[in-house]
Amino acid sequence: MTILITGGKGMIGSRLSDLLYKKGHDVLILSRNPKKTGRYKEYKWSVEDHYIDDEAIKRADVIIHLAGANVGEKKWTPSRKKELYSSRIDTANLLFEACERLGNFPKAFISASGSTIYGVNSGQEVQFEDQKRLGDDFLANLTKDWEKAAKRFEDKKVRVAIFRTAVVLTMEGGALPRYVFPAKFGLAAPLGSGKQMVSWIHIQDIARLYLFALENEISGAYNASSTETVSNKEFMKRVSKILSRPFFVPNVPAFALKLVFGELAEVVLGGNNLSNEKILQEGFVFEYPDLNSALENLLT
Ligand SMILES: NC(=O)c1ccc[n+]([C@@H]2O[C@H](COP(=O)([O-])OP(=O)(O)OC[C@H]3O[C@@H](n4cnc5c(N)ncnc54)[C@H](OP(=O)(O)O)[C@@H]3O)[C@@H](O)[C@H]2O)c1
Repeated sequence: MTILITGGKGMIGSRLSDLLYKKGHDVLILSRNPKKTGRYKEYKWSVEDHYIDDEAIKRADVIIHLAGANVGEKKWTPSRKKELYSSRIDTANLLFEACERLGNFPKAFISASGSTIYGVNSGQEVQFEDQKRLGDDFLANLTKDWEKAAKRFEDKKVRVAIFRTAVVLTMEGGALPRYVFPAKFGLAAPLGSGKQMVSWIHIQDIARLYLFALENEISGAYNASSTETVSNKEFMKRVSKILSRPFFVPNVPAFALKLVFGELAEVVLGGNNLSNEKILQEGFVFEYPDLNSALENLLT
């Protein structure tokens, strides 16, 4: 099959592209800055200019929508918030409108989403996909709109699968290298109370989940999270242990994190405790269901 991936050069996208390629699929990438050379054919799009290369849409059997400005990279100024929003929602709408204009809808539309949909909470309660109570903060509302934009494809009889993704673990970016760096100096510290729960998924498993959604007729929203959820303190402790470093640094107080990161501090201070029962019921098998196996693979 020919798979068009938005954000295909990002952290998840590049791992997924290689996995799809190995499985014999033809990978196309939609990017703001397409390169002329490379293993995969790249096409240009621009949400500001409302532009998309029609050829990419015409060739796609399936679209995987991963594009999104990084939530944890910069402070959430009003213009950054706008970018976080438009890079996910306006882009999904741009894809939909291009498909409609060309009369060429894919067989399936598979979209990233975030565990942020459940809102800022301590993660003491387990979160299920069918629960009515979702969050009402900035990221939760953004995520709800993101899923709504993806679901527009259902009106055109396109199969839509959505992954409410937990913290993705890889040493190539994201949260883990930021935790590992101080831990290497014996300076890993729980953030805030340290009691907030951390749902996570190994990079290989999130890439395998997208492949699973491609190869199986699943639809709807799924939590993309491994089985063992731990507290932030336990997470830091395990990282230190695997690196054979001491773990006794006091917690970083919440007010200090808020002072430095502003509203973005919510991302680390808030917890998540996602159930992965729904995707397990579909037959997906995690390669890294527990934190020790994931950390050993990534850190040793
Ligand atoms: N990594 C995680 O822990 C995690 C957790 C939950 C959800 N997710 C979601 O999963 C998706 C993929 O995550 P990732 O970690 O692979 O992200 P990433 O490495 O930051 O890559 C995302 C891609 O989005 C595109 N992008 C960035 N800013 C954009 C903008 N302003 N307008 C349009 N496109 C833009 C970029 O592609 P080009 O530069 O080629 O245009 C980039 O390669 C994202 O939507 C993310 O929110 C990730």
